[in-house]
Amino acid sequence: MPDLIEAHNISKTFYMGPSVIEVVRNVSFSVRKGDFTAIMGPSGSGKTTLLNIIGCLDRPSEGKILFDGKDVSRASDTALSFIRATKIGFVFQTFFLIPHLNTYENVALPFLYSSYSQEEINNRTIDAIARVGLTHRLNHKPSALSGGEMQRAAIARALAIRPEVILADEPTGSLDAGTGAAILHLFKSLHDQGATIVMVTHDKEVANYAQTRLFFKDGKLH
Ligand SMILES: Nc1ncnc2c1ncn2[C@@H]1O[C@H](COP(=O)(O)OP(=O)(O)OP(=O)(O)O)[C@@H](O)[C@H]1O
Ligand SMILES: [Mg+2]
Repeated sequence: MPDLIEAHNISKTFYMGPSVIEVVRNVSFSVRKGDFTAIMGPSGSGKTTLLNIIGCLDRPSEGKILFDGKDVSRASDTALSFIRATKIGFVFQTFFLIPHLNTYENVALPFLYSSYSQEEINNRTIDAIARVGLTHRLNHKPSALSGGEMQRAAIARALAIRPEVILADEPTGSLDAGTGAAILHLFKSLHDQGATIVMVTHDKEVANYAQTRLFFKDGKLH
């Protein structure tokens, strides 16, 4: 059986006027189903760029990415959006919740264009909110949530589609240490329940929650 994600010799180069920025250089690695992987590295080392490629938000300049055994490195925009919408749950440092929607509506957002029945959408939304312990905050708008609760809502939104993998970019970067630790415990318990997680961080203590750690420096994994 292929690994869930396989990166084969991927590179990413940005061209800005006369300058050439090689951010990812010939990187290969894989993520197995059920892994909790941390990608570590200093600021500017290319972690977000790499995560965006894994998450089908961007394509590598060279090399090949297999997602669930399928080559996505040259897939069309439509094919990539479909994979993102059905298989990948994203969690960001700044949550990206919609301010005028409450917790329930934010978590149900990924189903806006889905073909599920209303009942199925409701079940998945309620279930995802319960998994992050936010059932008592269904009707709260983001401005009425604490930072930790906002991140829980964002994690519920990622979980709602029952993704193959959760990709988290500095998920505790905007939270104080105690709240961050609670979010990391949540990731750990989701992993214990079978979730596959790839988390980017520059913080060693945060990375310690993961099972596998990859170090990224000068565009290469060490
Ligand atoms: N679209 C782009 N065009 C040009 N350069 C880019 C682009 N995206 C990223 N870069 C450059 O690539 C390098 C890596 O950026 P990236 O955001 O991946 O780093 P990072 O490791 O996530 O950093 P941080 O920890 O600060 O979030 C940076 O030098 C950045 O300026
Ligand atoms: Mg980054």
